[in-house]
Parts: sequence; C-alpha cells; structure tokens
Amino acid sequence: MNAGTSPRRFRAAAHGGLDQRMRAAYADDGYLVLEDYVPAAACDRLRARAAEIVDAFDADAGASVFSTTTHAHAEDAYFLGSADKIRCFFEEGAFAGGRLKRDKGLAINKIGHALHDLDPVFSEFSRGPRLARLAADLGYVAPLLLQSMYIFKQPGIGGEVVCHQDAGFLHTEPPSVTGLWFALEDATVENGCMFAIAGGHKGPLRKRFRRRGGRMVMEVVDPTPWRQARRVALEVSKGTLVVLHGLTPHFSARNRAPVSRQAYTLHLVDGACRYGTDNWLRRDGTLPLRGFA
Ligand code: FE2
Repeated sequence: MNAGTSPRRFRAAAHGGLDQRMRAAYADDGYLVLEDYVPAAACDRLRARAAEIVDAFDADAGASVFSTTTHAHAEDAYFLGSADKIRCFFEEGAFAGGRLKRDKGLAINKIGHALHDLDPVFSEFSRGPRLARLAADLGYVAPLLLQSMYIFKQPGIGGEVVCHQDAGFLHTEPPSVTGLWFALEDATVENGCMFAIAGGHKGPLRKRFRRRGGRMVMEVVDPTPWRQARRVALEVSKGTLVVLHGLTPHFSARNRAPVSRQAYTLHLVDGACRYGTDNWLRRDGTLPLRGFA
C-alpha cells in the first residue's frame, strides 16, 4: 500500500497532557502522535496480561469472528453482548473450511470491550492520572471510559479494518468520542499500521452503525467520499499514543508481515453529551460507565 505522508510527531509530556503545539496539531489534523507515552515495561505488562486472557479462553465455546469487511459479527449475540464483558474474537483468516487452522494465541483478532472495568491490569493502566490529565486537556467535562479493545493484528492474517469514523459506532449528541490508541509493538506499513485522513474530522459523519427494529444496520448519513489523497500512515514505535478524533476517518490494511502489530485502545465519551440508546454498545445498570476516578 502507498504509505502516504508521515504524521507530525511529539514527545509525550511527563504529565501526560497537551501543550499548545500539540493542541494546534490535533485541531488541524484530527489525530495526534505522542511518542514515548507508555514505558516499554508497561507495554509488556499489557501484552503479558492479554496473553493470559487468551490462554484462559475456551476457543471451542462459541466465540465469533470480527470482520469489518463482512460485518458478520453485527448479528451476533456474543459480540452485541460484549459491552460489559471480556470476550475474544477471532481473525477471519484463522479459519479454513470452517475449522480453526492455527493455535488460538495466533488466531485472536481482538479482546473487547470492558477490559478497562473488569481486568485489574487494564483498569489500572486505563485510569492513570496522565490519561485523566489528557482527557481534561481534550476538553472533556465528564469523561467516561466507554470501551476498551486489545487488538492483535496477527502475523500474516491480521484483518483489514475498512475506513470509518468512530463517532459512527459510538455516537453521542453532539459527537464526543475520542480514541486513545496505544502501540504495544512498532506499527509499520508492512504489519498493518493505522492510516488516518488528515483534517477529515472537519467533514461530516458519513455512516452510523445503529440498532433499528431489533437489528443492527449501517446507515449512510452523508455520502461525501473520503479524501484519500490526504491519508497519512501512522507508523509509530512501541509506547506511542495516537489520539484520534471521533470524526477522523481511519483504516488499516491486512497484516501480511510475519510479525504482529499489537495495540490497546480506549474510547472516551463525554457524560455531558447524550449517548444514543441505538448504539450497538449498551450497558445495563449492573456495570455503569465510569470516568478516571
Ligand atoms: Fe476506529
């Protein structure tokens, strides 16, 4: 894939928040690359914990495939019921003839979607004071940690993620979602790094993934095409945090490299905004959303 241009890069501040240059770049681009945000040892701790979760996962117990190309998971109770669970989803390419063709440790696409509330290691990482400072600097009045995902992007088969805006999947009125994407390994064009369309957050929301009459539908809100010429390859080193505006179009190609491209992501919304009950991700009262406290 054509790598496009390179992103602006900043060295993360010790306090975890934003300075004026970072704010200006984020306002222009709709993404922000903060290098050395997470120490290598903390990345390794998350990786080890994710490996333990996969190790404990019963691969024969009715899991599902996560695919943004087929959206096969969208009708799936295992996926739709994962808002307040820790569940493992397979890579589409891990199967042949309906059978799992590799070890589960090399077959999981992602773990989601409540690691930050249910797992002590991920909860501690997700609720640190540096991220609280970052959320405040991003303008959150009442930040809520809505969703967490551990993404494996497995060697050779790590699935493509088609171009999308997170605000179409985690919708508030007005839009308030921000993605925090932590590189736990180096991400390159070869192993399927994320691409973003610079300045794309200034355009309209294109699609919404929403509940309609008891099923999930992908609804076109605005047919304006993506400005692919402005795509930027977010090639980043281990420990980098990429902050992604909820309206910024982003995507990644299949990982054809012999190495994985693991990342942890958190999505914040503002409790001061209205969270639509037609979102796929819904919590009942048993595990309410929390902020950084
Ligand atoms: Fe996304």
